[in-house]
Amino acid sequence: MIMRSVKSSVKGWKTAGPCLAVVMVIVVQALGLGAVWPQELAEPRLDEEIAKQQKIFQRRGVDVPSGYITNRGLSDYAELLPTGFCDALGRLGSSDRWLDIGAGSGQAILDYYAPEGDAPSGEKCAQPGAKARAVAMSIEDRQTDKWREQAASLGDDRMRYLSGKSLRHYSREELGKFQIITDVFGGFTYTADLSRFVDNVLSLLEVGGGFYTLVPGVHLEDGKDKLGVFYLTELENAAGRPEKVCSWLKKCSCAKVTCQSKSDWKRPTELIKVEKVCSDVSVPRMKLVEFEAGYPPDRRFQLEQ
Ligand SMILES: C[S@@+](CC[C@H](N)C(=O)[O-])C[C@H]1O[C@@H](n2cnc3c(N)ncnc32)[C@H](O)[C@@H]1O
Repeated sequence: MIMRSVKSSVKGWKTAGPCLAVVMVIVVQALGLGAVWPQELAEPRLDEEIAKQQKIFQRRGVDVPSGYITNRGLSDYAELLPTGFCDALGRLGSSDRWLDIGAGSGQAILDYYAPEGDAPSGEKCAQPGAKARAVAMSIEDRQTDKWREQAASLGDDRMRYLSGKSLRHYSREELGKFQIITDVFGGFTYTADLSRFVDNVLSLLEVGGGFYTLVPGVHLEDGKDKLGVFYLTELENAAGRPEKVCSWLKKCSCAKVTCQSKSDWKRPTELIKVEKVCSDVSVPRMKLVEFEAGYPPDRRFQLEQ
């Protein structure tokens, strides 16, 4: 208990590096709290925090935190996802498939399927012509009447909405394969099991298909992070040294990873495209070390040996 309050009173110590951790050990020992190691100080109440996170997903109406946005449209996706997303989407044919993981209300797919001439103004991504089958996935059900009407009018399962569980609870057979998978502040930003999440995504992609996502509050591949940043997702290698999300992803086999670092956004953000180039995918395993619920949550992972 004392350990927890010591840790929470210095939230963010982990970003300050090992020196502060050592100082904390000395201070805690000086307070007569016995021998305490940094791992114990950082001991996460993982289950409690993950349960809190589930409650955030389920909030409704006025209880939804203003930062938890669930209705971004296709033009927001065009701005937030890596270059090439709209062109790739435009190239899909009517038998191809697009999965949006963490779709919220599914507005991006609704915009994609909006009748021609009815697309929202400023729409940058919807193009005339054949449309792929689209699947929206969200843990909590945020389908709108508009979604139900549009899906019913198109029929033939052109737009499907899946809810009630997270990606890892679906079998590969249940979901099938996709040419494009997107994730905009969805599972990639919220999962407590990052390596399994990426493994699942890659297993659902056809060879030649692409995963388009972004991850906020990370150490940037181009190294242009501003000083004093509070990171949301931190990775470290097996020796406890910082690892960038892109350098970790580049260790996956059968994945061609391209990153675009955004140092001038509110949070340092990496826009990421992962192209599946062969079928024998493997993802270096990351273990969850810390998790603090939020929108988005605060997470730390360490590469397993
Ligand atoms: C902040 S909302 C983003 C919604 C939408 N992409 C947007 O930008 O408006 C987060 C979404 O991610 C979903 N989500 C989080 N973790 C997930 C997971 N592991 N599997 C599937 N969906 C997940 C939530 O249920 C929710 O639909």
